[in-house]
Amino acid sequence: MSIVTMDQPYAQKMQKPRLLMNQTISTLLRRRSVRSYLPDPIGQEELEQILEAGRYAPTAMNQQPWHFTVIRNPDLLVRLEVACRSAFLESSIDALRQVASQEGFSVFYRAPLLVIVSGDRKALAPQYDCTLAMENMLIAATSLGMGSCWMHAVMMFYASEKGKKIFHELGIDFPEGHDPLAAAVFGYPAEPLPEAPPRNKDCVTIIG
Ligand SMILES: Cc1cc2nc3c(=O)[nH]c(=O)nc-3n(C[C@H](O)[C@H](O)[C@H](O)COP(=O)(O)O)c2cc1C
Repeated sequence: MSIVTMDQPYAQKMQKPRLLMNQTISTLLRRRSVRSYLPDPIGQEELEQILEAGRYAPTAMNQQPWHFTVIRNPDLLVRLEVACRSAFLESSIDALRQVASQEGFSVFYRAPLLVIVSGDRKALAPQYDCTLAMENMLIAATSLGMGSCWMHAVMMFYASEKGKKIFHELGIDFPEGHDPLAAAVFGYPAEPLPEAPPRNKDCVTIIG
């Protein structure tokens, strides 16, 4: 069996030798949810590359039923973040309320960029389509040396009437018939990437 070792330093860091390692697998394994960002903005070229990666995700019946909303105005990000934090604070989930009430907590981790993928409600499988687009963008960002983190608060907040109203007041409107289905912040990590949380191994059944 041929052994592909395009990213030797990363392969060496893995707990046990990997038989197959290439740049793509290395990038997939290296992606982490980053929760501390430098204020440096993301360049236009990098942004366009990330969005392009998103648009190349597969979609049910090739419907591409999505819209990508990019927010990088720092003032708008702060205003949206304050609103989203209230969704955590008012959540019925104890852990979310606890996290959001910590002093200095920032929902968007002060990242310079938020991308929201909204999907057409009438499409066949918009949630899958938009999530796949976002995963492509998370991986593309990793490959370009950036960090990212999925932002559940955006969808949680938008699900409420209050949230929809505030999005509109802030001038963040989605195309008619669309709902935000995937959101993530992007930016350059302020600290070394965290260790990957251990993955459960007991989740595979191979039949045949
Ligand atoms: C659907 C979904 C919602 C998530 N929401 C948040 C979030 O609101 N805030 C956050 O910091 N991380 C969020 N995460 C990131 C997870 O906490 C993270 O993926 C998990 O802990 C594994 O760590 P890793 O991404 O570094 O591998 C979310 C991830 C997913 C898939």
